[in-house]
Amino acid sequence: MTAPAPVPVAVLVGPPGAGKTSVGRALAAHLGVGYRDTDDDIEQTAGKPISEIFIDEGEPHFRDLERAAVAAALAGHDGVLSLGGGAVMDPASRALLTGLPVVFLDVSLHDAVHRVGLDASRPLLAVNPRQRWRELMEQRRPLYTEVARAVVSTTDRTPDEVAVAVLDALELKDA
Ligand code: S3P
Repeated sequence: MTAPAPVPVAVLVGPPGAGKTSVGRALAAHLGVGYRDTDDDIEQTAGKPISEIFIDEGEPHFRDLERAAVAAALAGHDGVLSLGGGAVMDPASRALLTGLPVVFLDVSLHDAVHRVGLDASRPLLAVNPRQRWRELMEQRRPLYTEVARAVVSTTDRTPDEVAVAVLDALELKDA
């Protein structure tokens, strides 16, 4: 008999600046499980930062790496998993999320831009971040909503407060 494949206890999706990494870490600490982030996996595989992948090979290549990273992490991690903000654009990745405990971390433009700030590591927000973020969110909100079992706002909340709200939303409080 083979052991069942691991399934993440929670998968976080949402736009850049939603707080996926800090909330994911806080949530993993609450649950006593590991934390994984597909952006980190992609950087490890490529051996360079995402900003350089965009410059050297272009966004389509990054999206190919991202699709593979999402599939690998969903099949090989039983802790908390954060996906890069654009991962839900891919239909194959969305299909893999079906039935999983996915949480959409929603956030206001104001808070997101404040968090992302002048961080140049996000190539899609390098020019005119407020307008770009708004456009990305308009395009992606229906997809975040489609894949999510629960929606939790991170606006005006600390990562720990959001982690508790996620535990509640996924009914993991007694886990
Ligand atoms: C992207 C978001 C980034 C990263 C890449 C592309 C996007 O992740 O995957 O820069 O398309 O929104 P975060 O959501 O963690 O910033």
